[in-house]
Amino acid sequence: MKRKLIAGNWKMNGSLAANEALVGALLAGAGEPGCEAALCVPAAYLAQVRGLLGNSTAFALGAQDLSAHESGAYTGEISAAMLKDFGVRYCLVGHSERRQYHGETDAVVTLKAQRALAAGITPIVCVGETLAEREAGQTEAVVRRQLAAVIHTNGHCISEIVVAYEPVWAIGTGKTATPEQAQQVHAVLRAQLQAASAQAGRIHILYGGSMNAANAAELLAQPDIDGGLIGGASLKAPDFLAIMAAAR
Ligand code: PGA
Repeated sequence: MKRKLIAGNWKMNGSLAANEALVGALLAGAGEPGCEAALCVPAAYLAQVRGLLGNSTAFALGAQDLSAHESGAYTGEISAAMLKDFGVRYCLVGHSERRQYHGETDAVVTLKAQRALAAGITPIVCVGETLAEREAGQTEAVVRRQLAAVIHTNGHCISEIVVAYEPVWAIGTGKTATPEQAQQVHAVLRAQLQAASAQAGRIHILYGGSMNAANAAELLAQPDIDGGLIGGASLKAPDFLAIMAAAR
């Protein structure tokens, strides 16, 4: 059976001093974790966090975004190859905050996933509906459309991705999807992946959106929830460690 994956998304938080304290506490408390874990940190701190992690195998290094372009005149962008240079193993792609505030379309998200895969980085492809879409009964159609774009372009590589279901209304709001609501969408995504690849069973489908130390165990007990993508609670070592412990 595959181990669960708990990925922290620090978003635009942290400082040299705060990161040192957080990673130090995580390393001190993680022991031999019974799950896979990753820290998706701001690009500016990739080198620092990689240094802080040292030889630890408990946490993999992750980024939060990458360029859809390979290289060249794209001021401010960071390429997949550059992330790879810094030992990045995972990269978030199409987080709802990128879709919402930076106009990332399904097509752009797909290209980014492709760039990551080509560089040997596992893209964590984020999908999820807004509150209005849920209330209009469009949840399944929205997540299926978002994932279909990535499946269509990445074909046989699809078993190399991670999918994160993050209902937009649950992100940073303290409003978590119920385990049943989350499982229902995860089952839809699993079926879609299975139709695309015989290897779909090995794909991690993470839940994200106000997952915390108190609700993690119940969410992670669902048959198609293979881990979590954790925002707010990933900035507090005891909370993140408690979620990791719930993922054993
Ligand atoms: P949250 O964020 O855990 O703070 O809701 C999750 C995410 O945006 O990845």
